[in-house]
Amino acid sequence: MVQGAVNQNTKLTKEWLQNYVDDWVNFYRKHTNEGELASYIPMLQQSNKEHLGITIIGNNGAMIESGDVNIPFTIQSISKVFTFIVACMERGVTYVLDRVDVEPTGEAFNSIMHLEMKQLKKPFNPFINAGAITVTSLLNGKTSDEKLKPLFQLFEEILGYHPPLNVDVFKSEKETSVRNRAIGYYLVELGYLESDLDLTLETYFKQCSIEISLQDLARLGMILANDGEDPKTGLEIIPRQVARLAKALMLTCGMYDASGKFAAYVGIPAKSGVSGGIIAVSPPRARNEELPFINGCGIGVYGPALDQQGNSIAGIRLLRHIAKQWDLSIF
Ligand code: DON
Repeated sequence: MVQGAVNQNTKLTKEWLQNYVDDWVNFYRKHTNEGELASYIPMLQQSNKEHLGITIIGNNGAMIESGDVNIPFTIQSISKVFTFIVACMERGVTYVLDRVDVEPTGEAFNSIMHLEMKQLKKPFNPFINAGAITVTSLLNGKTSDEKLKPLFQLFEEILGYHPPLNVDVFKSEKETSVRNRAIGYYLVELGYLESDLDLTLETYFKQCSIEISLQDLARLGMILANDGEDPKTGLEIIPRQVARLAKALMLTCGMYDASGKFAAYVGIPAKSGVSGGIIAVSPPRARNEELPFINGCGIGVYGPALDQQGNSIAGIRLLRHIAKQWDLSIF
């Protein structure tokens, strides 16, 4: 489905862009067989490896969708962007950044190596699990539902509905969470957590198990592309400073130990999750050229077959292709 004008200019008609995106999705779908479904959360193994879909929503409301766009999936690590945002809104940026750094690690998302070897005062960044669990512990509230209320409110404000929790995925992760428990105990030993460990982990597993759609991802990305403001209403949903900080972190740390390559070859802030989702953010471009979505857009990609870093293998290739063809790189 395509809505609205993609560009004022006549060459970039909706039909023209739709055909292009359809072709690219079909082309990159074959790369899904080079990846694997996440196995350490058993429920994620029920996904279909061959799925690949993309939704793009422009700041002007234009939308292009292609491929498997109607498969709900859990947000997983993409939630880390939004719990970081909510923590900054609740506690203030300085408070949060005193407790989690903004440096990429070059290590896997669930690594604890640097924390132990370098005797850090705080986790490297809010998108590795150690940092994300620390940030989750900063959220206000005495129960996981209380802690997550502002996150759900933020989603509801942007998406227009309260996304559900996938209870099966939540239980599946909770029952098999040995690595995250190990990380959690280590964080307790270092004195980084501001809430009880069980409460923090329950909250973290719940935030990862929020079920969303590709349209939701693209809409969330579009708000970030517009520095936290809803372009339709002009309302500030996320403070500008916080939205920009989140985007800087997405660019430097969002794809874990593939963040450098993603910045070099794709060049847009993005965040992945092990269920196969990627949120990507293309800010407005200051060019006087005929480029698709020149006013900025949010992009959601879903492809559950993952590469070794835990990122959607076909999704990354599709994004790389589109970013190159449409000159989306921020550099
Ligand atoms: O904590 C975990 O392991 C998962 N709930 C989320 C990890 C994740 O999505 C990493 N992303 N690629």
